[in-house]
Amino acid sequence: MTIKKVCCLGAGYVGGPTCSIMAYKCPDIQVIVVDKSKQRIDEWNSDVLPIYEPGLDEVVKQCRGKNLHFSTEIETAIKEADLIFISVNTPTKTFGYGKGKAADLKYVELAARDIVETVESGFKIVVEKSTVPVKAAESISTILHSKQKAGVEFQVLSNPEFLAEGSAITDLLHAERVLIGGEQSPKGKLAIGALSWIYQHWIPEEKILTMDTWSSELSKLAANAFLAQRISSINALTPLCEETGADVSEVAKAIGKDSRIGSKFLQASVGFGGSCFQKDILNLVYICESLGLQEVAAYWNSVIVINDYQKRRFSLRIVHRLFNTVTDKRISILGFAFKKNTGDTRESAAIHLSKHLMDENAKLAIYDPKVDKQQILDDLSHPYISEDPSRVARLVTIHQSAYEAGQGSHALVICTEWDEFVKLDFRRMYEIMEKPAFVFDGRKILDHEALISIGFEVETIGKRFNQSANRLDDF
Ligand code: UDX
Ligand code: UDX
Ligand code: ADP
Repeated sequence: MTIKKVCCLGAGYVGGPTCSIMAYKCPDIQVIVVDKSKQRIDEWNSDVLPIYEPGLDEVVKQCRGKNLHFSTEIETAIKEADLIFISVNTPTKTFGYGKGKAADLKYVELAARDIVETVESGFKIVVEKSTVPVKAAESISTILHSKQKAGVEFQVLSNPEFLAEGSAITDLLHAERVLIGGEQSPKGKLAIGALSWIYQHWIPEEKILTMDTWSSELSKLAANAFLAQRISSINALTPLCEETGADVSEVAKAIGKDSRIGSKFLQASVGFGGSCFQKDILNLVYICESLGLQEVAAYWNSVIVINDYQKRRFSLRIVHRLFNTVTDKRISILGFAFKKNTGDTRESAAIHLSKHLMDENAKLAIYDPKVDKQQILDDLSHPYISEDPSRVARLVTIHQSAYEAGQGSHALVICTEWDEFVKLDFRRMYEIMEKPAFVFDGRKILDHEALISIGFEVETIGKRFNQSANRLDDF
């Protein structure tokens, strides 16, 4: 079968860039991205797109209005499409059974209900693209088949997304693999073939892996769990390095040379963030617990335990080095996004670090080149972070540059590895800071020897500069 029209429910971080590239590479296909939020769609149709991704603006400009459309006309788009992506949000549940762990599939379920109620005829391929727990495709399929009208036929596929924020366009254009899971029946294989044909417009056939639905769904969770596990593994070595005098960068270099281990994702840090790692691991843990696999659940949960420990450890180190009190001291938080080249703050280590420092009554001067002021204030006012939101107004200021944030502060804390922080004029910064001036480099990006020669007191992850620094045995 040939696909002429594709529709995507959800114009978010996943749906937007994925469909833009699809339209760019498949001029013979009409791609319509729909969303319930009119504001989101208006933004996609404006000059300022709702998400920042290097290269995305150019792709959208080239295709928008030709074979790429953003609309709130959900029903029409569903009716006309041969293939429908579900790319809606799947937040972690904040209430009830599985609270804090299970994915809330409310939006996925509602999207499936929208589809089944709207489609009146024909063979429709429904592709699950949101990050969802194993067996979600089965739930979608059950909803679709339970209310299916005569003359309508659905096939549900799983096609997990592996794009990373900040490099979404490159990841989509040069995917290492595309995964398509589906029913192993003739109709299922037909649907798999149709989706595979779309990707073959720009991805070599041997990189398109087809398999059963559950393997495909589990592979997505497993890939993110493995990546996060590597970060927690290297981060778990950092306290050892700080205690013994070893340098975690040297250790990472040494172990990364073993091709069985590999060199990527061994960058020790203040802790991983982002919308996927923690959520996917929690999903995995929840599934294991539901199946009575306690040991397996504990194994994967330890990846998160180490990540939380790493964030807490760094903020305690800051308090400890600032003479055990940060009350009323101005501390500059440089970087609030969960990594560079994105304005996204979901699960960012900076949020947790800020919380710990606010709990100690520090005054935070925050600067990030891409995160909106309101986003930072909202993140810090969230009930999980601040029981009393007035505390944010009292303790937090947001700034337009690193120097403005650094002015009069006792310490700079690097939370995100933005390139512009490496290029800062640290002599100028030293002049405008309180003395002794501290730098806490949570991303290991600065030239520490140069900072020490200027006069800074320097602390970083997984390396000891100060021989006399006491052990952190108070947590
Ligand atoms: C290991 C290291 O590979 C080597 O670099 C180090 O110097 C000594 O320890 P060795 O113990 O000889 O070498 O064998 P290795 O091939 O690493 O296998 C260790 C165990 O892991 C074996 O029981 C092997 O069957 C098992 N294994 C290995 C798996 O179960 N799955 C794998 O994917 C790989
Ligand atoms: C991740 C996966 O990489 C992607 O394949 C999946 O589809 C979605 O989740 P993303 O969350 O966008 O992508 O960012 P990623 O680059 O993986 O970084 C996640 C977090 O880990 C960031 O906070 C980053 O700073 C941190 N990180 C990454 C480290 O601390 N050390 C590293 O070596 C790598
Ligand atoms: P992700 O990171 O998974 O892409 P986002 O939260 O960025 O998630 O985007 C998901 C989008 O899906 C939101 O803009 C939301 O409004 C939209 N959405 C949720 N449910 C539906 C639905 N039934 N139909 C269309 N859009 C939906």
